[in-house]
Amino acid sequence: MHSRSNDIKSPDNVGKLVTLRGWVHRLRKQKDNTFILIRDDRGGIIQVIVPSEKAVGLTIESSIEVRGVVRRDVRAPEGGYEIKANELKIFGLAQLDYPIGEYQSPEILLDKRHLALRTRRMIAIAKIRAFVLKFARDWFTENDWIEVTAPIIVKSAVEGGSTLFRIKYFDQEAFLSQSAQLYLESMTFCLGPVWSLTPSFRAEKSRTVRHLVEFSHLEAEAPWVNLEDILNVQEQLVSAIVQNTAKHASEELVLLKTDPNELRRIEPPFDRLTYLQAIETLRAKDCIIKTESGDQRTIQNGDDLNIDSERELTKDSRRPIFVIGYPLAVKPFYVKEDPLNKGMGLVADLLATRGFGEITSGGIREDDVNALTKRIEKENMDRSSYDWYIDLRRYGSVPHGGFGLGIERLVRWITNIKDIKDTVLFPRTMSRVTP
Ligand code: 4AD
Ligand code: MG
Repeated sequence: MHSRSNDIKSPDNVGKLVTLRGWVHRLRKQKDNTFILIRDDRGGIIQVIVPSEKAVGLTIESSIEVRGVVRRDVRAPEGGYEIKANELKIFGLAQLDYPIGEYQSPEILLDKRHLALRTRRMIAIAKIRAFVLKFARDWFTENDWIEVTAPIIVKSAVEGGSTLFRIKYFDQEAFLSQSAQLYLESMTFCLGPVWSLTPSFRAEKSRTVRHLVEFSHLEAEAPWVNLEDILNVQEQLVSAIVQNTAKHASEELVLLKTDPNELRRIEPPFDRLTYLQAIETLRAKDCIIKTESGDQRTIQNGDDLNIDSERELTKDSRRPIFVIGYPLAVKPFYVKEDPLNKGMGLVADLLATRGFGEITSGGIREDDVNALTKRIEKENMDRSSYDWYIDLRRYGSVPHGGFGLGIERLVRWITNIKDIKDTVLFPRTMSRVTP
């Protein structure tokens, strides 16, 4: 059996013979001895000392196995343990021109992402992603939500036509899914509260630090809920994910220079602002937005919130903020109108602290067949592609709602990483489909 470095680093192992497999992370050759930092297959690192004659020709990132005795030496990097090895076996000798170095440009790191994954930063991010997904799934399981999957190849846009990916589907046109919501709505009428984790696609032309072309979309939908119920689910789910990740991934978070204690304090209830309060706050700060025609002016009632205005709202906040009740005009066709506030939707976006802004959008869906049909017509959408969706209102509709959470947005906030491209192992953007 071969061990990993974390299992080896314990007082009980001192003097024991161990076998370790991994990759040459750093290499320092001296006359008699060669010092190798080995990185195991979970990213753990330990120093190994081998006689230099056994390490002739060894290169950075070669894959190796060593066998030797564990020693305690406070001078040893990575925790004060090392292995004095006499045997070294090479699985794959790496070429000398390994392209990932300490001071590499971001573009090269993206071009060589398949190798850059081996950096400690990327390994930490990948582990945090895994924790986030695990704790999300745990929360839904514990709270009796059923996990479902929805198709990725679809005929109906959910979030408007402008970011649709068109694909040739035999001899007809289809799209890559922007959201599983419409399918979850149909499932919620026979399975109760359901959730899914699916890739969503948006042909985002804008290059921002929070938009990807392909992202992991966690969505949930439930029958007989009101907006407050949907907000409660989100604050519980997000708090559980964040707190558990802070607890179990503190080492990784510290490596990424994030404070796990700050994350541990994220708990319900989150703050709540109405859309109108948000606009007033932003107007008081003279928040400028760019209109569709390219002009700049102070934000006003009726405008959608953009990255800058969301940053302004959340940069000093201590807990996430729900902005509640956006105008119907800035939200998609399926949003239910607030009966007490005409023209406004029963919707909310959740904005994360530290200026990170939107991480979820959700709300109550239009459940009336006539109102929904009118909205579809008003938006000039192709009726035939939505007939199945309208059926849900024809046959036993009930009030229902849900939300969508972008996993990369959440990871970006948790890890305090500026660019969303770094929260996913193989990012897809307008200019990047490889590796
Ligand atoms: O706000 P969005 O577009 O809402 C929906 O798709 C709803 N149909 C979800 C639902 O109610 N089931 O997307 C939801 C979330 C956003 O809040 C954001 O976190 C993330 O998905 N998201 C993106 N993440 C990365 N890159 C993009 N281009 C994203 N677009 C949305
Ligand atoms: Mg949104």
